[in-house]
Amino acid sequence: MNEYLTSLDRPIEAVRYAGLTVKLLSTGDGTEVIHHTLQEGSRWSMQPQEGWTASESIFITSGSLKVTVDEETKVLSTGDVVSASPIKQGLVFLALEETEFIYISSQPVFQFFSEIVRKNQELAIEVALKDGYTAEHCKRIMQMSMLIGERMELSPGDMCTLNYASYLHDVGKIMIPKSILLKEGPLSEEEWEEMKRHCTYGKELLEATDSPYMRASGTIVEQHHERFDGKGYPNGLQRDEISPLAYIVSVVDAFDAMTTDRPYRKAMSVENAIEELNENAGTMFHPEVVKIFIDLIPEWSKMKQGV
Ligand SMILES: [Fe+2]
Repeated sequence: MNEYLTSLDRPIEAVRYAGLTVKLLSTGDGTEVIHHTLQEGSRWSMQPQEGWTASESIFITSGSLKVTVDEETKVLSTGDVVSASPIKQGLVFLALEETEFIYISSQPVFQFFSEIVRKNQELAIEVALKDGYTAEHCKRIMQMSMLIGERMELSPGDMCTLNYASYLHDVGKIMIPKSILLKEGPLSEEEWEEMKRHCTYGKELLEATDSPYMRASGTIVEQHHERFDGKGYPNGLQRDEISPLAYIVSVVDAFDAMTTDRPYRKAMSVENAIEELNENAGTMFHPEVVKIFIDLIPEWSKMKQGV
């Protein structure tokens, strides 16, 4: 893309995030014009939220997107426009090929989005060597979570929330002191208590924003270490007190962590990790979510191999 700009006092910065590249082309009086490139197989969403009154439009400049509106599935292609003022139903767009579109919002969303994604990526780079929390891990968690969400026939609104929450589930770690986050060897009891606060910090970070999408994800981020039997943290919630979306993130996160090499231990085999999930179904994990996830493991294997 060539850039011919005369009055912008900043370079156009690209923010990359799990199959999506966004560039803020223009902004003024709160209105933002953002260029999006979505890789094949990646998703992007819009969802209504209390207090969100923005007028939003997307204009497709190349490629094609699949979306379900009023239970009817449509394929949008070059030249198609979707407009809402404000949006009344959640829409999840799936790129059928690499797709570019312009998104225009009358209320600002980019600033916060780019800031939190940048911080999340910095964190991923910093702690990658320590605990395998890499951008690739975040992307796999997001893609697998969305596949499970589809199988569970979640509403479009929930799919939008899951999309953000699964990618940013550990974002609260940016608030944890590096001395704890990067510590070699076991944590003291006090340090472990601080580490566990990453769930609450994540929720606070997301809820402090103007972005309805980020705010809705806060609860899921807070709950991603809760357990079916009530022995999780931070609030010891159990069974139906925990959102199905948080159960999804929890299973995918645990499986991906178990099957990834760490500096202090080798990755577990897929077979052993499946056994581990089954053994903990109904205690740590939601049994239904475990079942659906195991069914989808061939998809996970393809992602892991970068197929
Ligand atoms: Fe976590």
